[in-house]
Amino acid sequence: MSDVEALKKEAGIAACRFVKTGMKVGLGTGSTVKHTVVELGRRMAEEGLEIVGVPTSLATEQLANKVGIPLVELSSIDGLDIVIDGADEYDPNFQLIKGGGAALLREKVVAQESAAMVVVADDRKRVSHLGAFPLPIEVTPFEHQATIRALGRLLDCRVNCRMAGDNPVVTDNGNMIADAHMGPTITNPVELESLILHVAGVVQVGLFNGMCDAVVLAGANGVETIINPHGRLN
Ligand code: A5P
Repeated sequence: MSDVEALKKEAGIAACRFVKTGMKVGLGTGSTVKHTVVELGRRMAEEGLEIVGVPTSLATEQLANKVGIPLVELSSIDGLDIVIDGADEYDPNFQLIKGGGAALLREKVVAQESAAMVVVADDRKRVSHLGAFPLPIEVTPFEHQATIRALGRLLDCRVNCRMAGDNPVVTDNGNMIADAHMGPTITNPVELESLILHVAGVVQVGLFNGMCDAVVLAGANGVETIINPHGRLN
C-alpha cells in the first residue's frame, strides 16, 4: 500500500468514531471514504453496530451493499444524523471543493440533509485558498459546450469538459462535468457559488460552503480531528 493510500485508510477508519448505533448516516464517495464504508460494514458484522445509510453515488451504493450496510432513501427518513465524505480541498474556514469523483450533486443533496458533516482526507487536501484543484461544475447535457463557454467567460479562466477517453464523463445523474482551472484564487467561495449557480445549464457546483463541521486528517504525524469552531459538532 502506498503512503498516501495508508493515510487515506487511517483517516477513513478514524472517522467512524463519530458513528453510533441508531444513526442514519450519509455515505460519501471516493478513495478515502470508501475505507469508512468498509469499516462501518465491519463494525456492523462484528461489533453489533446498527445503522442505516444513504449513499452519495452508485459506486458507494454498490460498496455499501457489498459490506452489508442497509440503505434507505432520503425521502423515507427525517434527515440524517451525519454524513462522512471526502474532499478535494479544504481551507481554513472549512469550505470545500468536492467533485473530483464526479459525485458532487448527490453529495451536496445528502450533505444538506445531514445534521453534521465530517470530512476525511489526507493532509495534501489542506490549502490556504481553494482553487488549485480544478473546480468541478455539473452541467446539463443540452448544449453543454455552450454552458462551458459561458462559464469560461464568467470565471475568466480555462474551463474544460471532463473526458473519459474520447467521450465526456457522464455523472450518475446523466449530466456532464466542467472543470474550472481557477488556480488558488478563491477568496470568497460563497459569492462564487452563487455566481456560478446563476448560469443556465449549471446543475450544481462543487463548492461546499458552511457545511463541514470537522475534518479527520491523516498526515505523517498521525490522524488529527479538526473541529470547526463555528460548526455543529463544536
Ligand atoms: C467525489 O465526487 C468527490 O467529492 C470526492 O469525495 C473527493 O474527490 C475526494 O475523493 P478522494 O478521497 O478519492 O480524494
